Amino acid sequence: MERWKGRVALVTGASVGIGAAVAKELVRHGMTVVGCARNVDKIQELAAECKKAGYTGVLVPIKCDLTKEEEILSMFAAIKAQHKGVDVCINNAGLAHPEPLLSGKTSGWKNMLDLNVIGLSICTREAYQSMKERNVDDGHIINLNSLVGHSVYPFADGHFYAATKYAVTALTEGLRQELHEAKSHIRATSISPGLVETEFAYRAYSKEPEKAAAAYAPNKNLVAVDIAEAVVYVLGAPPHVQIGELKIRPVESAI
Ligand SMILES: NC(=O)c1ccc[n+]([C@@H]2O[C@H](COP(=O)([O-])OP(=O)(O)OC[C@H]3O[C@@H](n4cnc5c(N)ncnc54)[C@H](OP(=O)(O)O)[C@@H]3O)[C@@H](O)[C@H]2O)c1
Repeated sequence: MERWKGRVALVTGASVGIGAAVAKELVRHGMTVVGCARNVDKIQELAAECKKAGYTGVLVPIKCDLTKEEEILSMFAAIKAQHKGVDVCINNAGLAHPEPLLSGKTSGWKNMLDLNVIGLSICTREAYQSMKERNVDDGHIINLNSLVGHSVYPFADGHFYAATKYAVTALTEGLRQELHEAKSHIRATSISPGLVETEFAYRAYSKEPEKAAAAYAPNKNLVAVDIAEAVVYVLGAPPHVQIGELKIRPVESAI
């Protein structure tokens, strides 16, 4: 991770869960991390925690709703003005609504698409353009995917969410191919975890918390820091090594 010290990483959805753990870990490794989310106060608290711990990097909070293109573009403009641009983009923000294909609300499907697919794609494009204009050829774009981005499980509440994660599988490989065509050495990685204990299921089932608790109950699940360590692993690989896909399961998981 030595070569990333002082370089700039954008981590989306850095207020809680996996994004917060990733942001903290990258700051610990000396990076300048721009963390964005809607609840910017939580990122401010995390930044103070990092400072208090004496980490060598810095966490810079930015408020951004990633379902709004104008807010994403303003964020990239602010990063350009304050830090020149991004060298690493971690597309982590994502959400699920339990809206089955036979009965779900269109508004829930659209919200998942807007954040998990369109927001991620806008950030990817803007991050690449930022690297290109500064001749950064060793950047890295990492997408938080899921095991459900590779197999369809018989779970109606998750089918549309799974479709957005299948899109992330295609978008990461498509990105790798476009970067190769452009003769770029910027790397593209998809990280696909199984169940990780975060607010994720509680947000999905905000009106039925017992369903969220049940989702996490049976196994020893992954925790956010497991995924943050995986991000450090893929980023820390030598520049000629591109980890395209990393699936991470709790060892007790059957799926
Ligand atoms: N937890 C799991 O079991 C699991 C498994 C596989 C993959 N994943 C994937 O891992 C990623 C992170 O999940 P997590 O478990 O850490 O979820 P989480 O605890 O629910 O956190 C989600 C993050 O996304 C941000 N976010 C949501 N809507 C946003 C918006 N419109 N604009 C900006 N930020 C937004 C949230 O911030 P604000 O609410 O403050 O905006 C929050 O920081 C997601 O892509 C998820 O699909 C999770």
